[in-house]
Amino acid sequence: MRVPEWSFDTKPYCFYLNRLFYLCLFAILGFNMETFKREPLLRELKNYLIHLKDLGYTEIPCEADLFANAEIAPQQSHSSTPSNEMAKNKSLIAVQEELGDCTRCKLSKGRKNIVFGSGNPNADLVFVGEGPGADEDEQGFPFVGRAGKKLTEIIEKGMGLNREKDTYICNIVKCRPPGNRDPEADEIAACKPFLIQQLKAIKPKVIVALGKPAASTLLGRNVPITKERGTWHEYEGIKLMLTYHPAYLIRFPTLENRKAVHEDIKKVLKELKK
Ligand code: URA
Repeated sequence: MRVPEWSFDTKPYCFYLNRLFYLCLFAILGFNMETFKREPLLRELKNYLIHLKDLGYTEIPCEADLFANAEIAPQQSHSSTPSNEMAKNKSLIAVQEELGDCTRCKLSKGRKNIVFGSGNPNADLVFVGEGPGADEDEQGFPFVGRAGKKLTEIIEKGMGLNREKDTYICNIVKCRPPGNRDPEADEIAACKPFLIQQLKAIKPKVIVALGKPAASTLLGRNVPITKERGTWHEYEGIKLMLTYHPAYLIRFPTLENRKAVHEDIKKVLKELKK
């Protein structure tokens, strides 16, 4: 697996650092609160730190003046030469900035959080799911509910990889479809440019499409997933494997379905080792 080369630039992130500072402050003060008040704060802090990590941070720069909103610190880098890895990280951040507080489709009306994606911005392996469910909408991160637990199991137990370090996970739509219905064509069309840009920024070796909507979106045609899962395809020069969605495995946990996904991920591992 590629080892990410981390460095950072504080310039665009004063907003994040300020927010982090206040979250930390509240969490520390929260130690004097009853558990029911402290836990949501700590959860938010943890989620926010994960979010910063997804943006490419591996440390919080103490030198940054967290109180000075007006003056933006000069660019800093821990490596003397700006690396390609940094450029890639930056462009993923730029994609998220361009998405902004999106209202491009009707899903924005019912969402709590935009679920952009999470994991290593330099990962060799990207999983693309369908869309956030209730847990993801609540927390702002992909695959954190039941299907997420199954996906984590596939990645960590099935593939021997680390979900956060070795993969990046996102969806074809970034906002929760009401009642967990399938995303509609206009919603996919509004969100697809951001998925495309995410994949361009990450440039993984392998993409895994989880289920029919992800496979059909990436291939631009109606994919019969039962027939085509386990087969290699190409997306913009990147190897694309199609497999069942983890929620399908939860709903139909037959030996045949579990074996099928196991076969598919073995092929992915073989490709990653090349
Ligand atoms: N199912 C998906 O397709 N994506 C998620 O993020 C969660 C569940």
